[in-house]
Amino acid sequence: PVGAPDKQLAKKVTKVGIIGAGLMASQFALLFVRKLQVPVLITDLDQARVDKGVAYIHEEIGKLEAKGRLDADSANKLRALVTGTTDKSLYADCDFVIEAVFEEVGVKQQVFGEIEKIIADDAILATNTSSLSVEEIGAKLAHPERLVGFHFFNPVAVMPLIEIVKTPATADAALSTAFVVAKNLGKNAVLTADAPGFVVNRLLAKVMGEAARAVYEGTPIADVEKAFGPLGLPMGPFQLIDLVGWKVAAHVQDTMVHAFPERFYANENFHALAELDAVVEKDKGGRVVGWSKQAEKVLKPAVGK
Ligand code: 3HC
Repeated sequence: PVGAPDKQLAKKVTKVGIIGAGLMASQFALLFVRKLQVPVLITDLDQARVDKGVAYIHEEIGKLEAKGRLDADSANKLRALVTGTTDKSLYADCDFVIEAVFEEVGVKQQVFGEIEKIIADDAILATNTSSLSVEEIGAKLAHPERLVGFHFFNPVAVMPLIEIVKTPATADAALSTAFVVAKNLGKNAVLTADAPGFVVNRLLAKVMGEAARAVYEGTPIADVEKAFGPLGLPMGPFQLIDLVGWKVAAHVQDTMVHAFPERFYANENFHALAELDAVVEKDKGGRVVGWSKQAEKVLKPAVGK
């Protein structure tokens, strides 16, 4: 790929560490065990969160087994590769550690600070931040050259893209490893500048903000969604927000508004929507079939202030 350094520089990845066991983290833990077939360590603040993440991974492996995509033996092998724990000392022999914790620079700096004391000197750190500055996340590291942005998309198993983000400090070995890992995960990687929202989220934040604006101007949510169909995109903007999570979408909007106040709309509407119990109506299969009346009400007065 354009901008990728020589793949000979890539470090061999024999154990992956994942910081966080939430929805994104568990999805890519599953991808790492399936595609790299190496031990994966997953941690979180407390055992309950860890257990939830591991249960998700086991459940998804069970689904693959039920669909006949994995035999019982391979499924058990994959399950055995996943370790969920709150014991961070087990990161010591991980050579690629990726974080997917709360989207706040200070929180990410703190977890990386702790992990850097445990991991080997040449271990690589990656952040799945969706829109924060990777350089800032790495600013407090003793070795910022080991940090690279590695941004997955939802649903992780299906979306073919990973954004790889290089900071002025990122070493070629870290960058090269990131590209090789992405390839081994079966993804297409693009190298993006370390700018707010990288490429995908700056585009999506614009689309989502304009979609909310259209509702404010009087178009029902359902019609905004329908209008998207002919553009050939797999989902309308609101269904996509529902997929990535209303809170995540609100956070991305915040980052973009903060970075470019003249180009993005203020976003109280997204925060208000994130607080609603049910923004969407779903069928039994979990597919979006309608929109709550509340959602339109919330969106209308809040946008356009
Ligand atoms: N989790 C895991 N797998 C899922 C899934 C989910 N939520 N939803 C669908 N899938 C899988 C299905 O199991 C199926 O896999 P299979 O072919 O191996 O059986 C495959 O996806 C296709 O599913 P369906 O046929 O049921 O559904 P569709 O054809 O309607 O596709 C979709 C579903 C892939 C989600 C498609 O609608 C899509 O691509 N939507 C756009 C998603 C997108 O743009 N994501 C980016 C979000 S931005 C982001 O994540 C960045 C963050 O920082 C905010």
